Amino acid sequence: MDHEKLVVSGGNPLRGRIEAGGAKNSALKLMAATLLAEGSYRIERVPRIVDVQTMVQVLGRLGCATTFEGNTLTVDVPAEPGTEAPYDLVRQMRASIIVLGPLLARRGHARVSMPGGCAIGSRKIDLHLRGLERMGAEIAMDHGYLDARCDRLTGTRVVLDFPSVGATENLIMAGVLAKGTTRIENAAREPEIADLCAMLATMGARIAGAGTPDVEIEGVDALRATDHVVVGDRIEAGTYLIAAAATGGDVTVTGVAPKHLDLPLQKLADAGAQVDAGVNEVRVAMPGGPKPVDFVTLPFPGFPTDLMPQMMVLCSLAGGDSIATENVFESRFMFVDEIRRMGADIRLDGHHAAIRGGARLQAAPVRAPDIRAGAALVIAALAAEGETEITGLGFIDRGYERIEERLATLGARIERRVPR
Ligand code: EPZ
Repeated sequence: MDHEKLVVSGGNPLRGRIEAGGAKNSALKLMAATLLAEGSYRIERVPRIVDVQTMVQVLGRLGCATTFEGNTLTVDVPAEPGTEAPYDLVRQMRASIIVLGPLLARRGHARVSMPGGCAIGSRKIDLHLRGLERMGAEIAMDHGYLDARCDRLTGTRVVLDFPSVGATENLIMAGVLAKGTTRIENAAREPEIADLCAMLATMGARIAGAGTPDVEIEGVDALRATDHVVVGDRIEAGTYLIAAAATGGDVTVTGVAPKHLDLPLQKLADAGAQVDAGVNEVRVAMPGGPKPVDFVTLPFPGFPTDLMPQMMVLCSLAGGDSIATENVFESRFMFVDEIRRMGADIRLDGHHAAIRGGARLQAAPVRAPDIRAGAALVIAALAAEGETEITGLGFIDRGYERIEERLATLGARIERRVPR
């Protein structure tokens, strides 16, 4: 894969309709949630991306059988799943840490390789661990592994220092089988959390306040397997809508709830786009050149950090100066050097980026340093003059299903070249 590249000829406005896939950042957690009860699960609209494949491997190591039919995943969970998530898989995908809560709740033991940092930040998990310890877990570091044990978790009040998505999800999945009631305050409110709670509810869990800062979980003795359809991927949808704006196009993304994209759509409208929100679809058209906008990333319902790189590309094309502020991850501007090579004029000052607009992006060989930065480079290449070669596809494929084929349906001149 590392030698594959995307070759993009820029300058074509994107036009047409495209269906959003199921959300990566929900599907991974729904797959982990299956560990909470024995039985067969049918999860529809699961994106066929590398991260999902890694989670399939993690479930496989824990004794679960999985089969895919199109985007429908069946997971068969045994009476006693394994309890170890190994280093070789966790290092490929930090999100594997999300099996910690379900395994501890279900089996009273979980051994998970300690996830390292990544290109966008240190990615600490202290809030996960502190919350589980407050619920009675004993957690030790053992040769690079977190070894967590508890006869049965006990519900309690946990106040999160920061509304961490992963910590909220791990603690919810710990609380559903705990003794008594767990109350998570300053919880994350991302739509993917509400989607997880919707699936847990059909498994028999008792959860109130999903998607709000205060989530209350009344533990039950047992849960049951279920079926679920993954919520639409607001980040994939946002990526295509920003690409439409950056190329002066007109694109409708279906299968996504506009309310999951309130702030990005508002910023696109501020940038001069025509934005039409339908029941479960959004249309973005950019008749003229983009205008500058300032934006700051924050936990939901703030502007999503996972759309920050894409939006910075749009701002670099704008007729004026914009300021982007990244508040969620401490080193998420690594990609800036790559779009500077394409002619963007961006100055960094801590977690602020001053983007001088009016750039005429030019083709240049670039490399994706992470999933969303990779998507931003594709957008830059679609807006640039000439033919751009993008490498580091391993990252893009982790979060986007068949990106070149899907963009080509909107008129993009893009292809994947695989060395012979
Ligand atoms: C999820 O990561 C997403 N990943 C990320 O998407 C997304 O950027 C992020 O939420 C924020 O929206 C998945 O869902 C798989 P956090 P997560 O815990 O759960 C700090 C993508 O491209 N923190 O909300 O890891 C942490 O260091 C990815 O799809 C602690 O300090 O995010 C970070 O700065 C990238 N201690 C901030 O909080 C903790 O215990 C947000 O992290 C936990 C987090």
